[in-house]
Amino acid sequence: MLEEVVATRYVTPLREGGSLPGIVEADDLGTYVMKFTGAGQGRKTLVAEVICGQLGRRLGLRVPELVRIQLDPVIGLAEPDQEVQELLKASGGLNLGMDFLPGSLGFDALAYEVDPREAGRVVWFDALINNVDRSWRNPNMLVWHGDLWLIDHGATMIWHHNWPGAQASAAKPYNASDHALAPFGPDIASAAAELAPLVTPALLAEVAAEVPDEWLVDEPGFDSTDRLRRAYVDALLARAATIHERIVLDAPTPDKPSQAPGWITERLAPRHDQQSDEHSDQGGRA
Ligand SMILES: Nc1ncnc2c1ncn2[C@@H]1O[C@H](COP(=O)(O)OP(=O)(O)O)[C@@H](O)[C@H]1O
Ligand SMILES: [Mg+2]
Repeated sequence: MLEEVVATRYVTPLREGGSLPGIVEADDLGTYVMKFTGAGQGRKTLVAEVICGQLGRRLGLRVPELVRIQLDPVIGLAEPDQEVQELLKASGGLNLGMDFLPGSLGFDALAYEVDPREAGRVVWFDALINNVDRSWRNPNMLVWHGDLWLIDHGATMIWHHNWPGAQASAAKPYNASDHALAPFGPDIASAAAELAPLVTPALLAEVAAEVPDEWLVDEPGFDSTDRLRRAYVDALLARAATIHERIVLDAPTPDKPSQAPGWITERLAPRHDQQSDEHSDQGGRA
């Protein structure tokens, strides 16, 4: 079971992504990135965050700790932004929190080197959960204390938006050509050999059990939350053994523009300074 905390202060919204998560403080003195049940993306986003986030952690990937957060919307009364007010009002009760990594930087492929084994594990994992949201345009990875951390698993398992088509969807290829780690030569074969055997029915059932019942109730076609949990387990299990055979990795497109401000890339990777100096007359890196 995920630990449960109570939000004590709404600190600030995070506007990089689409769902307007907020930084909150909680009664355990922790700071969390809170994903709201009242957000337009709906509660399935939170189900995906729990199942995939916890699965990633159980497979040994770096995903910040997840907690259940109780929200009394009254803590946001002083918040001037109308959009935030509406979100808080619509999200009283249970929400999802991810441990906030203070001082982390958004991943940038030009500033941070990833070894092929680690890149392989992340790409294989994203193929397993059918993550469509870890592209070089929007990496949803952070660098913290020199390590790569995975965040934002809300746009995964697209089959849960259409359960009757789930089986067919599991048989489709996973195109990782635009994946943020595609340029690092991901070693898919060794990742599959290492991780696929760990994805057992028992592990998946434990992970699915961590989703709060109230985010699973009343799903059309399912007469109980346990049945729905089983469907998540079955869909992931069906992919685990063979998904590595269906990962498409076309040649990476060169010269991806850096998303990071210059001072970050300079601080993290002096060798890029040299490169951009050499090529500065050719337009180089932004
Ligand atoms: N655990 C975390 N620690 C620090 N910053 C985070 C964390 N989670 C998210 N962020 C920041 O908030 C932004 C939005 O969060 P994300 O989970 O990607 O939500 P969405 O893209 O759905 O809005 C991220 O791009 C990142 O900059
Ligand atoms: Mg995001």
